[in-house]
Amino acid sequence: MTKKVIVNADVGKGTINKNIYGHFAEHLGRCIYEGFWVGEDSDIPNTNGIRNDVVEALRNLNIPVLRWPGGCFADEYHWKDGIGPRENRKRMVNTHWGGVIENNHFGTHEFYMLCDMLDTEPYINGNVGSGTVQEMSEWVEYMTFNGESPMANWRKENGKEEPWKLKYFGVGNENWGCGGNMRPQYYADLYRRFQTYVRDYGDNKIFRIAGGANVDDYNWTEVLMREAAPFMDGLSLHYYVHPGGFWNKGPATGFSEEVWDITMQKTVYTEELIEKHSTIMDKYDPEKRIAIIFDEWGAWYDVEPGTNPGFLYQQNTIRDALVAGISLNIFNEHNDRVQMANIAQTINVIQSMILTDKEKMILTPTYHVFEMYKAHQDAERLDLNIESDSIKVGDKEIPQVSASASKAADGSVTITLCNLDKAKTADLAVDLRGKDLANVSGRIITADEMDAHNTFENPDNVKPVAFDDFQTSGSELTLTLPSKSVLSITIK
Ligand code: AHR
Repeated sequence: MTKKVIVNADVGKGTINKNIYGHFAEHLGRCIYEGFWVGEDSDIPNTNGIRNDVVEALRNLNIPVLRWPGGCFADEYHWKDGIGPRENRKRMVNTHWGGVIENNHFGTHEFYMLCDMLDTEPYINGNVGSGTVQEMSEWVEYMTFNGESPMANWRKENGKEEPWKLKYFGVGNENWGCGGNMRPQYYADLYRRFQTYVRDYGDNKIFRIAGGANVDDYNWTEVLMREAAPFMDGLSLHYYVHPGGFWNKGPATGFSEEVWDITMQKTVYTEELIEKHSTIMDKYDPEKRIAIIFDEWGAWYDVEPGTNPGFLYQQNTIRDALVAGISLNIFNEHNDRVQMANIAQTINVIQSMILTDKEKMILTPTYHVFEMYKAHQDAERLDLNIESDSIKVGDKEIPQVSASASKAADGSVTITLCNLDKAKTADLAVDLRGKDLANVSGRIITADEMDAHNTFENPDNVKPVAFDDFQTSGSELTLTLPSKSVLSITIK
C-alpha cells in the first residue's frame, strides 16, 4: 500500500550544521600513509606529498571538517615528534594499530596543508591518556599564538610565520578505554584541568570537545555533564555498527539476509542513543548549548582476508550506502543537539569514502551517499512526517523507510529517502506543502545484490544514476523506492 511522506516546505526546524557531514582521519593502517600522504618523491601524482586524486575526489564532497590524528592514536601522539625537517623526525611504533613504524612525516604542518587543499576546517584531538597538560597547552600555543612566544617562535622557524586558526579541539579520546581506561569522575576532573590550558589566543576562539560516552554508557554522560558542563562546548559520542558484535563483527561482503536486517536495525538504533544521551544532557543544559559531537560512527566489519588485522581495511557495499544514508537522516533530524559527526574513516579504514591500491583509487557507495546528501549542509531542516511499513528483525521492528528534508538558501528543497528492505519495494506519495512541484529531479543508488561493491577492476559497479520514475499531481509526488536504495530528490 502507498505510504505518505509529508514535507512542510514552509515549516523550518533549524539549520542542519554542515559539520554533520564531517570526516575522520587517523594514523591507522593506510588512511594517512598511502591514503592521503605518499610523500613528495612518490610516483603517485601529488602536491607537496599529498595525493592529487584523493584531494580532487574529496573536494567534490565539500568536506566541512576533518578530525585528526585519532582515535586511539591521539592519546599516544606527541605532536613535537611531527614537526621540523622530516628526515629528523622521531620514528615511533604505532602500538595500537598494527605495531608498524610511524615516521611522523605527516604532522601538524602537513595536516593544515591538507585542510587547506580540501578547504575544510581542522578538528584536532589532543592527548590526555599519555600526554601532559603542558604538552597540550604548548600545541595550542604553537598553532595559534600570534607574536613572540617559545612555541610561536618555533613554528616560525619551521616555516609558518602567521598562526593558524584552530576552531575545534578534542580533549582526549575514548578515555574510558584506549585513552586511559578512566572512570568518568576521574576523566571529568582531568578534562576540567586540561581544558583550562587550551587557551584562546588573540581572536582564535576554540570550541572545546570533551571525550564522551561509548554507545549506551549513559552514566558517563551523566557524570561528565554534572561535573564539567560549564567547561565544554561539545561532548563526543562514539557508536559503530558491528552486525555480529564487537568480537565477531562479520565480513563486509558475503553476508546473509539476516545479517543485512541486523545491520539495518543496529543503524536505526543510533536514533535511540542520541535521544537518550540528549535527554540526560537536557537536565544540565536545557538550552542545548552543548553539542553532541558524534565524532566516530560507521559500520565496522572484519578486515579483508589477508590484510593486517590492525589496519581495519574493509570493503564497502550497497549495505554501507544504507548505513550512511540512514545515519545522516537521523543526524539531520536531531539537528537541535547533533552539531557534528565524523564518519570513520576517510580512506582505507572502516567505512571509507575511498579505497586505494598503490596508484589506483576507487570511490565507495558510502562516498556516493555523502555526495548525494551534500545539499543538506547548512540548509534549513524541514518538518517531515512519514508513514512506513515495518521490518521485523528478531523481536524488534524497524521502519522500512528513513527520510529527511531540507531547504537551501536558494529555496531548493532536498528530500533524501532510504529503503531499508533487502527485497521489497516501497510505494510512496510525497506531499510537498508550501512549494511548487516544478523542476523535480532525482538520483538513486541501488543494486541487485546485497553486497554489491566497487573494485579496482570494476570501479563503477555501484554508483548513483538519474531517477525520474515519479509522477506528479498537485502537491504530490508518487514513486516506488526500489529495495536497498538511497534516493535524493531535488525540487528547485
Ligand atoms: O576508528 C577506529 C578506532 O575506534 C578509534 O581509534 C577509536 O577511537 C575507536 O575505538
